Amino acid sequence: MLSHTGRVTLADAMRVVLIGAGVIGLSTALCIYERYHSVLQPLDLKIYADRFTPLTTSDVAAGLWQPYLTGPSTPQEMEWNQQTFDYLLSHIHSPNAEKMGLALVSGYNLFREAVPDPFWKDIVLGFRKLTPRELDMFPDYSYGWFNTSLIIEGKHYLKWLTERLTERGVKFFQRKVESLEEVARGGADVIINSTGVWAGALQPDPLLQPGRGQIIKVDAPWIKHFILTHDPKSGIYTTPYIIPGMQAVTLGGIFQLGNWSEINSSQDHNTIWKGCCRLDPTLKNARIAGEATGFRPIRPQMRLERERLRVGSANTEVIHNYGHGGYGLTIHWGCALEAAKLFGEILEEKALSRMPPSHL
Ligand SMILES: Cc1cc2nc3c(=O)[nH]c(=O)nc-3n(C[C@H](O)[C@H](O)[C@H](O)COP(=O)(O)OP(=O)(O)OC[C@H]3O[C@@H](n4cnc5c(N)ncnc54)[C@H](O)[C@@H]3O)c2cc1C
Ligand SMILES: *[C@@H]1O[C@H](CO)[C@@H](O)[C@H](O)[C@H]1NC(C)=O
Ligand SMILES: *[C@@H]1O[C@H](CO)[C@@H](O)[C@H](O)[C@H]1NC(C)=O
Ligand SMILES: *[C@@H]1O[C@H](CO)[C@@H](O)[C@H](O)[C@H]1NC(C)=O
Ligand SMILES: *[C@@H]1O[C@H](CO)[C@@H](O)[C@H](O)[C@H]1NC(C)=O
Repeated sequence: MLSHTGRVTLADAMRVVLIGAGVIGLSTALCIYERYHSVLQPLDLKIYADRFTPLTTSDVAAGLWQPYLTGPSTPQEMEWNQQTFDYLLSHIHSPNAEKMGLALVSGYNLFREAVPDPFWKDIVLGFRKLTPRELDMFPDYSYGWFNTSLIIEGKHYLKWLTERLTERGVKFFQRKVESLEEVARGGADVIINSTGVWAGALQPDPLLQPGRGQIIKVDAPWIKHFILTHDPKSGIYTTPYIIPGMQAVTLGGIFQLGNWSEINSSQDHNTIWKGCCRLDPTLKNARIAGEATGFRPIRPQMRLERERLRVGSANTEVIHNYGHGGYGLTIHWGCALEAAKLFGEILEEKALSRMPPSHL
């Protein structure tokens, strides 16, 4: 409960442990800190993760703001996507934009047949259908869209978020969490679960699966537009895509549901290379700068909700925030705002439960 001084009337410090240091964990931590550090002192916020940037899934992502073509699975997800786009767009000319890995990027979405307009056509800038002259550049395709979107590149953004959190006194610990109970016993009032595709190891979640992706990074500074191809029959991200980033260009087009292999496969490499060079033959001259494999945390819909965990005689509050599939960067800020709202509800309840009964 907020008193008239704006402070939460809590006797004890609030100990918060957030598990996961990908884009979801770090943005949630920053959002909670920004919202509550002034009303809740001290706010003891720790981040546990077994992998940090540049080794998370969020580092592998090209970071294009782009939801799936169909969906979203809930009206809330629609709102969270929009909030993220608006938040990022509001920073586009800030002095921090380059450090955040944030930039405007325009480009093409290509199809072999006409398709309905996507749900996000009014979120992105300048959405329109391709003209015949534009389609002439892509002989394999007969239909498409052009728009301006944003890139928020994981490698830069995670570093930037980590710096902001460190400045604010948030502490990072490298450790693998074996169970939520272990963290609860260690003395946490609130645990935030942002463990991406590995969430299922802490508490079984049969709905969560890896959507394996592999990408190639190339030096090709002449490529200024993203080009995404789609085949609704084979599914999202199974066909070639080219996405220019802050420095390198990302080439991809691999999506294998249920595949936990973290090895860079030479077969997938060849599939990506052939597909992307066909789409833009100038790539044949590009130097390969790197390669990576990652697992999109696939779930029929993401999980963002509270759960009360009973350990011994104590209750620990858990906020789950995982399962963001192939659109974690696209939706992260809206989810961070929602997780912070859930955190605020917990604070209010805890403050209420500590108020002296009114008859005394
Ligand atoms: C090839 C590829 C391309 C992509 N491109 C895009 C794109 O262009 N745009 C977009 O929006 N999205 C894209 N995505 C999706 C995006 O990468 C994910 O949705 C996002 O990274 C998920 O973030 P996260 O923070 O949940 O997970 P992660 O980044 O995987 O972070 C999980 C964190 O939890 C920690 N952790 C897990 N379990 C434990 C444990 N037991 N103990 C301690 N720590 C633990 C990990 O160490 C890590 O720090 C892409 C994904 C792939 C694979
Ligand atoms: C442009 O459209 C594509 C369609 O796939 C989408 O992925 C991308 O995010 C859009 N860009 C913007 C800025 O809206
Ligand atoms: C985090 O969520 C995942 C997914 O359900 C679950 O398996 C895991 O146990 C949770 N971790 C904690 C600490 O709650
Ligand atoms: C995939 O390739 C990259 C770049 O060469 C490398 O850093 C990474 O370790 C490779 N992954 C595996 C599992 O070998
Ligand atoms: C899983 O990925 C590996 C590459 O690392 C590949 O060899 C294997 O064929 C893939 N399996 C499936 C089912 O796609």
